[in-house]
Amino acid sequence: MRDALRGVLGGVALLVLLDALAARAGWTGGLLPHTAGTAAWVASRSAGLVAYVALTLDVVFGVFLSTGAADRFLPRARSLELHRWLSGVALGMVAVHALALVFDGKVRFDVLDLLVPLLAPYRPLAVALGIVAVAALYVVRESFAWRARLGAALWKKLHMVGFAAFVLATAHGIFAGSDTGRPWTRLLYIGAVAVVAGLVGYRFAAPRRASRTVS
Ligand code: HEM
Repeated sequence: MRDALRGVLGGVALLVLLDALAARAGWTGGLLPHTAGTAAWVASRSAGLVAYVALTLDVVFGVFLSTGAADRFLPRARSLELHRWLSGVALGMVAVHALALVFDGKVRFDVLDLLVPLLAPYRPLAVALGIVAVAALYVVRESFAWRARLGAALWKKLHMVGFAAFVLATAHGIFAGSDTGRPWTRLLYIGAVAVVAGLVGYRFAAPRRASRTVS
């Protein structure tokens, strides 16, 4: 069942890619439907904000695990479960965030704009930061499966890429977002950066606790 679903999704992805290539070559006008209003744009922005909150919490739980800072309040197994779940939510919402753009009728994104940095028709540099952040997030999430092969030391180093993903996603949200000027969005970015920076400071100021293993 899972393989069948993967096959269907792979087929759809291939069709969408071929459609984008054909439209870029001028052979078709693009077969995907586009919304006349702002529904796709609003859906994308909302999903982007949810993804950012999930990523921030994911980093927070990652630091809790590596420092043991929340062990008194939450069993480690539960923290690990939440850490993995949040990274899945972040990636899932990023997929919605990016794919919704393909259906927007005003700023015409195609699937290649979502995959190749600097191709986007809208704020290309800021969008490129988001694309690199997704790649970093994906590597970190997949690294759970490679942990035994990589060894604990290398795996921990690779896991640090999660911090880079957070920094890139923050810069991306600030420079690409149309809500950046609003007070609540500013509060979100300032709050997220302050919490993560504080926890990272604690993480590196507490080397003994930091050497705890995540299992
Ligand atoms: C393929 C990768 C990505 C693409 C193509 C992309 C594209 C975009 C675009 C075009 C905008 C501007 C929308 C607006 O005007 O608000 C935006 C904003 C935003 N993105 Fe992304 N993004 C990507 C990855 C990410 C990631 C990894 C995150 C966080 C985990 C993220 C979070 C946000 C946030 C928070 C905003 C601001 C929303 C707002 O101000 O309303 N994006 N993104």
